[in-house]
Amino acid sequence: MKIEAILTPAELPALARRDLRGTACVVFDVLRATSTFVTALRNGANAVIPAGEISEALAIRKKQPEVLLAGERDGVKIRAAQSGGADFDLGNSPREFTPETVRDKTIVSTTTNGTRALRACVGAQTVLAGSFLNLGATAEFIKKLQPARVLLVCAGTHENAALEDALAAGALCELLAGEISDAAEIARCAHAQARSDLAAVVRNSENARRLLAIPELRDDVAFCLQRDIFPLIAGMEADGAIRRQ
Ligand code: MLT
Repeated sequence: MKIEAILTPAELPALARRDLRGTACVVFDVLRATSTFVTALRNGANAVIPAGEISEALAIRKKQPEVLLAGERDGVKIRAAQSGGADFDLGNSPREFTPETVRDKTIVSTTTNGTRALRACVGAQTVLAGSFLNLGATAEFIKKLQPARVLLVCAGTHENAALEDALAAGALCELLAGEISDAAEIARCAHAQARSDLAAVVRNSENARRLLAIPELRDDVAFCLQRDIFPLIAGMEADGAIRRQ
């Protein structure tokens, strides 16, 4: 098994030119999209549909009025002024996706980087939403699957790398045995160096500092760093929806 990594979203467009049929992609947007989707599934959501744009999310809701609209721009919930229509039901804080709110619901979510990264992996053998919350279960799933390649996809922020995504990718690398690419090794080394005080390292990252400065979102940082509290596999299926596997 070869283990590769994409450390910045600038590398995502190249995925469209790759044959990903033998590849299991694991997408990390630790702060916060993939952590939020894993939480939603854990709390009983039927599915999370990642939408690239606000307009696409609205179009899905038009056809399926029962879905919940979720997502963020600049970290905060999408409002009518941005959507040109309705206020979204939910933002992108995992703590909003409680069982009372999401049980048996389908959620359509559009976020700045996370949903874009997930959709860039379409065509892969398997696409998984990865996070610290479900890291061990994701590793076990990959070990059983034994794909020819594992591609750790760090969603990043805008066009830049995000430290917490690379650290989660590195943590997964540590759990898998295989032939490691240089990019994956960079992530593995970063995690090995940070692991003794991961929370402090992440708190100093750009995304964490942004969230910590917003009183109602600051607790998301600690929430998303909890390791293996939700032992579930979140897989994107052929219809583009992420469901519990
Ligand atoms: C994203 O998809 O870029 C994010 O998860 C950003 C956020 O939630 O703040």
